[in-house]
Amino acid sequence: MKIYKSMPLNQFIIRRQEDLEHATGELSRLLSHIGVAAKIVNREINKSGLIDFLGEFGSSTLQRSELKKLDVFADSQFIEAIKASGDVCGIASEENHEIVTFDNILSKDGKYIMCMDPLDGFSNIDVNVSVGTIFSIYPRISKCGEEPVVEDFLQEGIKQVAAGYIIYGSSTMMVYTTGQGVNGFTLDPSIGEFCLSHLDIRTPEDGHIYSINEGYYTKFSDGIKNYIKYCQENNEETKRPYTSRYIGSLVSDFHRNLLKGGIYIYPYTTDKPEGKLFLSYECNPIAFIAEQAGGRASDGNKRILEIKPKNLRQRVPFFSGSINMVKTAETFVKKYNHKN
Ligand code: AHG
Ligand code: MN
Ligand code: MN
Repeated sequence: MKIYKSMPLNQFIIRRQEDLEHATGELSRLLSHIGVAAKIVNREINKSGLIDFLGEFGSSTLQRSELKKLDVFADSQFIEAIKASGDVCGIASEENHEIVTFDNILSKDGKYIMCMDPLDGFSNIDVNVSVGTIFSIYPRISKCGEEPVVEDFLQEGIKQVAAGYIIYGSSTMMVYTTGQGVNGFTLDPSIGEFCLSHLDIRTPEDGHIYSINEGYYTKFSDGIKNYIKYCQENNEETKRPYTSRYIGSLVSDFHRNLLKGGIYIYPYTTDKPEGKLFLSYECNPIAFIAEQAGGRASDGNKRILEIKPKNLRQRVPFFSGSINMVKTAETFVKKYNHKN
């Protein structure tokens, strides 16, 4: 089977599986189950825009208060779909404080575990701005047939076998990697299928967009303050000043920069000394995609994928995007941290 533009996700997954020497099909099945859950969540997110419009006429089944439940809905939808695949024995989700383990016979034998942020950028949902779902898949360490343990979920990002995100935007896309490059699929609503739209995504080595919440400027370290100044300076050779773009939805900000070239930074601040983003639910999967597309991801000093999570809710400063931009930002962090 040849890869062609608009190829449906499921066909692409099967085609790619043929390329992997020892592939057994479980990972493929799992990815297609994720695609199904994404379509269901997408349907509900699309409806949310109608609440104000239809709600006052009483013809919408969703109430404004229910919008706030969409994150819980997305969480349970993904958990159910993943459980049904039978290939995953447990899930850790940003929405839950404990891991969810599957005790049905099929799932107990599942070779994988999954970490996810079911609805990222959630505060944007009532103003019609893009939100996302982020997922990552690891091989389990515990014995098949037994209940998974917390250690299964505390592996370094380099152990991921697949990672991806769904962006519910002006169109809905699924972008994922299995360690052989990054591919993007756009949901064609007329046929209800994710179709191949972005084959082998490569992110530009040098970009011109910087994405950081500058409202926290006074809370940033000197390294970050000076890097922002650098982004704003005039320099013809390096095409500065750069453009500032910040949605406040990691998936959307990262996705734009992945395609156009840019850097996303969520550093530590005086009131968030560890940063805000979760290592296992947000940073590791995004870092895997960034690297697979030729980009870079670090905490300002260390490669994200090599950090061993201490607990499920570990937060880290996050720098990701075009390789040369991230490297430059890291030099600012190093230079000014020595001064402090
Ligand atoms: P979530 O909606 O899953 O809690 O994540 C929100 C995150 C991330 O998506 C975004 O980049 C960041 O929070 C924005 O934070 P600020 O509003 O502090 O900039
Ligand atoms: Mn998030
Ligand atoms: Mn979330």
